[in-house]
Amino acid sequence: TMEQYVDALMRRMTLEEKIGQLNLPSAGDITTGQAKSSDIAEKIRRGEVGGLFNIKGVEKIRDVQRIAVEESRLGIPLIFGMDVIHGYETTFPIPLGLTATWDMEAVERAARISAVEASAAGICWTFSPMVDIARDPRWGRASEGIGEDPFLGSAVARSFVYGYQGRDPMHFATDEIMGCVKHYALYGAAEAGRDYNTTDMSRQRMYNEYFPPYKAAVEAGVGSVMASFNEVDGIPATANRWLMTTVLREQWGFEGFVVTDYTGIYEMIAHGLGDLKEVSARAVEAGVDMDMVSEGYLGTLQQSLEEGRIPLSDIDRACRLVLEAKFKLGLFDDPYRYCDPQRAATQIYTPAHRAEARRIAGESFVLLKNEGDVLPLRREGTIAVVGPLAASRANMPGTWSVATDLTKPLTLVEGLQQVAGEGVKILYAKGSNVIRDEEQERYATMFGRDIPRDGRTDKQLLDEALAAAAEADVVVAALGEASEMSGESSSRSQIGIPDVQQELLKALVATGKPVVLVLFTGRPLTLEWEAEHVPAMLNVWFGGTQAAEAIGDVLFGDVNPSGKLPVTFPRSVGQIPLFYNHKNTGRPLLGDKFEKFRSNYLDVPNTPLYPFGYGLSYTTFDYGDVRLSASEMTADGSIEATVRLTNSGRRDGVEVVQLYIRDRVGSSTRPVQELKGFQRVALKAGESRDVSFTIDVSLLKYYDFDLRYVAEPGEFDVMIGGASDAVKQASFTLK
Ligand code: IFM
Repeated sequence: TMEQYVDALMRRMTLEEKIGQLNLPSAGDITTGQAKSSDIAEKIRRGEVGGLFNIKGVEKIRDVQRIAVEESRLGIPLIFGMDVIHGYETTFPIPLGLTATWDMEAVERAARISAVEASAAGICWTFSPMVDIARDPRWGRASEGIGEDPFLGSAVARSFVYGYQGRDPMHFATDEIMGCVKHYALYGAAEAGRDYNTTDMSRQRMYNEYFPPYKAAVEAGVGSVMASFNEVDGIPATANRWLMTTVLREQWGFEGFVVTDYTGIYEMIAHGLGDLKEVSARAVEAGVDMDMVSEGYLGTLQQSLEEGRIPLSDIDRACRLVLEAKFKLGLFDDPYRYCDPQRAATQIYTPAHRAEARRIAGESFVLLKNEGDVLPLRREGTIAVVGPLAASRANMPGTWSVATDLTKPLTLVEGLQQVAGEGVKILYAKGSNVIRDEEQERYATMFGRDIPRDGRTDKQLLDEALAAAAEADVVVAALGEASEMSGESSSRSQIGIPDVQQELLKALVATGKPVVLVLFTGRPLTLEWEAEHVPAMLNVWFGGTQAAEAIGDVLFGDVNPSGKLPVTFPRSVGQIPLFYNHKNTGRPLLGDKFEKFRSNYLDVPNTPLYPFGYGLSYTTFDYGDVRLSASEMTADGSIEATVRLTNSGRRDGVEVVQLYIRDRVGSSTRPVQELKGFQRVALKAGESRDVSFTIDVSLLKYYDFDLRYVAEPGEFDVMIGGASDAVKQASFTLK
């Protein structure tokens, strides 16, 4: 058994070798091909390395593994990790976009293909899924997550884990990889949306609103967990024993290993917890097993043990969990089982994988507006494609595309031409830079991987765009964020389309030509002007390597958009944090006008610009009234909630039907609504169908003041609709 195997191995290990298993350096110099002579190679030979991360290439990985297996005393294989976040070489939409599909089969399929490709290239461990609830779009890493909702986020978390790992977390096939749910915990709740900032919240909010997606990943069998950089309740997550042991292992039953996020141990010196020796001791005793990059464990744990600061049992626990992960991955049977050059040559970036990526990208786009049915575009006439994001390849996949070849994606212009066919003339003009020169200085060269600054003046760029628009029947404006404007360490205090691009958009709209805004973004943006003046807007996030063709599919109507927002789009930054499942307060605003002594603003409504769950289609859907199978329910019973859904337009389409519940009276205050179910329903034009949800007590439970998980008797509202603010309602009583 695994236990016997690991026991026997650990009996042969020296203390140094045990500590070595806890060390996870970045591949660093090894990726330059100097493996045999590098410092890391020497460490591997001495048994001071448990794994490596972000090393690309099956031959390189095989080479390094050979050093561990053949040249270290015990020959323990290394584990190889990578940030395979939304695909390996074939990339899918950014995780926020994947979440916007509300299609859990699609999410699982994307993760499955990621696993096939990564494992063909020697990678057996991915630092994904990231399931940090994010209610502050200033935070750039909203792009990597699952949006603002714990129920949807939990479903996505499970789908990712199943896609990477399959259903048996004890045994991995050679084309499955171990997941790592992150960033545990609360990383998305950084104050003011500034990355790595402090978080502070009530335990009730943690348990009800922020913990569920991590817990769902654990229940799905995720093999590892990554500690977050931030503090939780005054103690950095990396040293937080309550978080890592009490909640994660004792309450949730997690049996895998915990790794730090990068220099998470070292960073606790800056947090103010002590020197490297002290913070390393704090981490291992909290329940953190593997030290990424800091080398605090490697350098200090032996001394801490000798001084009696930590017990041997902490080191043994951590070592055992890392070895068990390697056992589950089958690395002791065959250290090279993920290093098959044959697979690497045939299973990566295949036409079949790319076809799936295109299909899934098409599902992720959210149609925000389509006045006068500007969309879909007809395959005739002249289209001016304008904007700094229209001719870029590297910008298409989105943040964290570390393994993909950024020269391969089609540009939007190419993708549209390919999908449109010969009969459509496409003109291209850049129109503006991504951001202004002054801003560029501050951000250095970070934005717009392959969108060089243009030597021409803003006026020259604009004139060229207006000339193209004058010749065209319709203008497609490809604007928004360059891909690195969201993602890690990309917080923004203003979250509009950068103003130099917005000026271009205003000038295009002023021409009177119909304008379609194809919006690239990794987060909700403030779009008040756009929502009022631009007739059609398609939010395409960052859609992966096949984004350009997928955008073409939707713009030309081959695919009818079905994505729905997994996050609220605020009207202004001043409304943040703004999320649909908020509390009522004692003075809720009842109408939509300002009222003195009610909870509202003088200068902006409480409502968002686009609510959670929102997204249009080229067809329309009508909802009948909510019918409940009973008006009362007992704790061991259930109720069916049904609506009649009709495709009332002229095209076939898919609608994401959403179920929300409100607990009207609780011992603690309860949110005004909470997502508790959703279904993607395909209906032909004119077709009707009953859509039902089963409500049982598991959908009514929450963590009360004492953190007991309870369903409290009383009245519940059931809301069903196509967006959080467009629902039909009925009520029942829980006895
Ligand atoms: O996995 C990532 C994490 O999300 C952010 N810091 C670095 C890690 C490893 O690359």
